[in-house]
Amino acid sequence: MPTLLHLDSSASPLDRSVSRRLTARFARAWQARHGAAGYRHRDLATDPVPLVGAGYASLGVRVERHGAPVPLGDVPSFATSPAELHEWSLTHPLITELHAADTLLLGVPMYNFTVPAALKAWIDRVTFPGAHVDPATGDGRLTTTRVVVVTARGGGYGPGTPREPFDFQTPYLRAWCTEHLGVPDAHLRFVHAELTRAADVPALTPYRDLAATSLSTARTTLTALATV
Ligand SMILES: Cc1cc2nc3c(=O)[nH]c(=O)nc-3n(C[C@H](O)[C@H](O)[C@H](O)COP(=O)(O)O)c2cc1C
Repeated sequence: MPTLLHLDSSASPLDRSVSRRLTARFARAWQARHGAAGYRHRDLATDPVPLVGAGYASLGVRVERHGAPVPLGDVPSFATSPAELHEWSLTHPLITELHAADTLLLGVPMYNFTVPAALKAWIDRVTFPGAHVDPATGDGRLTTTRVVVVTARGGGYGPGTPREPFDFQTPYLRAWCTEHLGVPDAHLRFVHAELTRAADVPALTPYRDLAATSLSTARTTLTALATV
C-alpha cells in the first residue's frame, strides 16, 4: 500500500499559511490517487516534538560507540537510566512512522533563512545514530523513499537573485536527506513558493507578478508530483 507522511511546520494556520495550503493540495491529489488508508499527517507546530534532551544524546553516543548498527528493538538494552528510556520512547515511534512512508512531504516556511525550529526538533529526534541503516544488510532503509519539500518564503531566493546565498533551507535539507537519511538525491524534489509577502509588504510590491507566477508554478508542480 502506498504511504504518505505529511509534515507541516508553519506557525500559522491553514488560512494564513502558504506552505500548509500547498502541502494540503499535494495531500488531496495524492489521496485521490492512492486512497486515504496510507495517509498520515503530523502537525509539528500545534503538536510539537519535544526537543532532544541529555538522555537522547547519551543514549545516542553509546549506540554509536557500539560500532555496528543496532536493531531499533535492541536500543533500550543500551539505556542506563529512565531518562534515556524516556527519550527513546519519544523517538522510536517517530522513526517507525518515517520508515513506513514511501513519500515524505515536508511543509517548510522560511524562518530566519532556514527551517522552523518545530521541524528541526523532529529532524533531531528521527536522526538517531544508525536508525536508517538496516543492521542485517548494512543498506540504507530509505533508499527508495521520495521526499517532496515545499518551502514558502517571504522574499525571493531563486537562482541569480541577490538573496540566493541566504537560502539555507535547500542546502541544509538536501544534505540532511542524502547524508543522514540516505535518500538518493534523485528522489528529492524542492518546490518553492517565493515572495509570499509581496501582497502585504510595501517594499515587495514590485514583485507581485513574480510571486503569483511562483505560487501558480508550485501548485501545478505539486499536483503533478502527487499523481506520480
Ligand atoms: C519567524 C519568522 C521568520 C521569518 N524569516 C524570514 C526570512 O528569513 N526570510 C524570508 O524571506 N521570509 C521570512 N519570513 C516570512 C515567511 O517565510 C513567509 O511569511 C512564509 O510565507 C511563511 O510560510 P507560511 O505562509 O507557510 O506560514 C519569516 C516569517 C516568520 C514568522
